[in-house]
Amino acid sequence: MQNTATPVITIDGPGGVGKGTVAHLLSKRLNWHLLDSGSIYRVVAFAAEKAAISVDDSDNLLSLINALKATFSTDDEGIMHVFLNKEDITARIREPHIGQAASQLSVHPAIRTALLDCQRQFRKPKGLVADGRDMGTVVFPDAQLKIFLDASPEARAIRRHRQLLAQAINVTLKDVFAQIIERDERDRTRAVAPLKAAKDAIIIDTTTLSVDEVFAQVVLQWDLCQHK
Ligand code: C5P
Repeated sequence: MQNTATPVITIDGPGGVGKGTVAHLLSKRLNWHLLDSGSIYRVVAFAAEKAAISVDDSDNLLSLINALKATFSTDDEGIMHVFLNKEDITARIREPHIGQAASQLSVHPAIRTALLDCQRQFRKPKGLVADGRDMGTVVFPDAQLKIFLDASPEARAIRRHRQLLAQAINVTLKDVFAQIIERDERDRTRAVAPLKAAKDAIIIDTTTLSVDEVFAQVVLQWDLCQHK
């Protein structure tokens, strides 16, 4: 059961669009909980790699999810940390090959269903900012405010590349761009919960906007939404 009395703001969009940064800033501003839903798919991908389970093997992936001892906590900076069997794997799940595997295993409908409850448990007073691909369409369809961020693949590749270098993950911009295109295609065309804006989402194209500008627009939308 969802705790529908608690407000939710969803921020969806493709990889590298900056939704994680905006969601993080917003959760800090409002002092609300934060759900980085991509991390949950990444934990499964990480655990599957360790257990040598293929991203196509949905039966064994489901058993893995049922036995998974993953916990999440948010530090003073508002960053969501992920632990697997008490080991902090926050940095390890950021590796590009884990992102690719997460994207591959997230196409299985049964896996998406199995992860719904875990995501909805983040909805706790006084509110939740949730970022991902299907937060507004599937996981929290009753969200008070739905934002969909978009940007050109080139702009997203440059941002993602910068982020990875800052995390000391060495990859070329060309490889990051190729992965963004591949993941976009898979996320947008999968049969269940494809990446798309909810009908009632506000779409913001961030290609030429700074983080501060995007954040200001999202805060404005939340202010407007409260006075409706
Ligand atoms: O956002 P992030 O890059 O961490 O997500 C990794 C992958 O997990 C995405 O490419 C997407 O396929 C999948 N995902 C999803 N639904 C979400 C969040 C992430 O399918 N709500």
